[in-house]
Amino acid sequence: MDLALRTILNPGDEVIIPDPYYICYPPCINLAHGIPQPVPTSADDGFRLEATKVARRITPRTRAILFGYPANPTGAELTRGDLAAVAEVAAAHNLLVISDEIYSRLIYDTEHTCFPSLPGMKERTILLSGFSKTYAMTGWRLGYAAGPADLIGAMSKIHQNTMLSPSGIAQMAALEALEHGEDDVRQMVAEYDRRRRLIVDSLNRIGLKCHRPQGAFYAFPSISITGLSSEDFTEQLLKEEEVVVMPGNLFGAQGEGHVRLSYATSITEIEEALNRLSDFVRRRRK
Ligand SMILES: Cc1ncc(COP(=O)(O)O)c(C=O)c1O
Repeated sequence: MDLALRTILNPGDEVIIPDPYYICYPPCINLAHGIPQPVPTSADDGFRLEATKVARRITPRTRAILFGYPANPTGAELTRGDLAAVAEVAAAHNLLVISDEIYSRLIYDTEHTCFPSLPGMKERTILLSGFSKTYAMTGWRLGYAAGPADLIGAMSKIHQNTMLSPSGIAQMAALEALEHGEDDVRQMVAEYDRRRRLIVDSLNRIGLKCHRPQGAFYAFPSISITGLSSEDFTEQLLKEEEVVVMPGNLFGAQGEGHVRLSYATSITEIEEALNRLSDFVRRRRK
């Protein structure tokens, strides 16, 4: 992501991102001397990015659109139609697209469309992915990018002088994952799906309204019935119940009034956390 942004941006170039966004997007854009331009999405439309809103955000300084679906923190996924509409806007305004598809294998009830597979998009998209989520290799620091040869070539120039190369150990593990990991991925997707249903149904029963995420391993419920800000909710829940969630405002202005729960942990832990969360919400209901 860093290499892609440093490669394509000149100082002052603007990059459109959906809000809520993955926490690292704005800082990475800023570090490459670009300016993030958030486009609001909301729970009402399942946090899906609307192409018309993207088009309205475009200025003469817009260089790229950066998004990641399935999304962190909302778990939202875009349909092929949604993506095609964004593709049309990108083509009409000659924009590059950075498509962060790191959660593309963790998908439920639907099929994932790889953005550069859309007509005309391969030429203007840098696809980002990695092994962290599909193969639970977070911390192994192994990712990859695919895109037009000139852009990847320019990214390689920075890469050779900064990161140099990933560790051999991580590469051997990734090779094993690719050659023999498919059954485990299928099993884990089924397991995440089970956790997703449990967590979303329980949240709605507790009174924390939650849309059904279609990918990744996060739930992003509204906490409006408590009247608390995202940060107060998070801090008080941590102190009183020792349950860790992330305050939604960290992911952008549209995240305020929500918290992010991760279900990358066991059903037993999730059930215990939900019981504690339920007690906390009962005490805080307005
Ligand atoms: C949307 C998104 N992109 C990229 C990453 C980075 O993953 P890693 O640095 O582990 O490859 C994450 C990790 O949380 C993420 O949620």
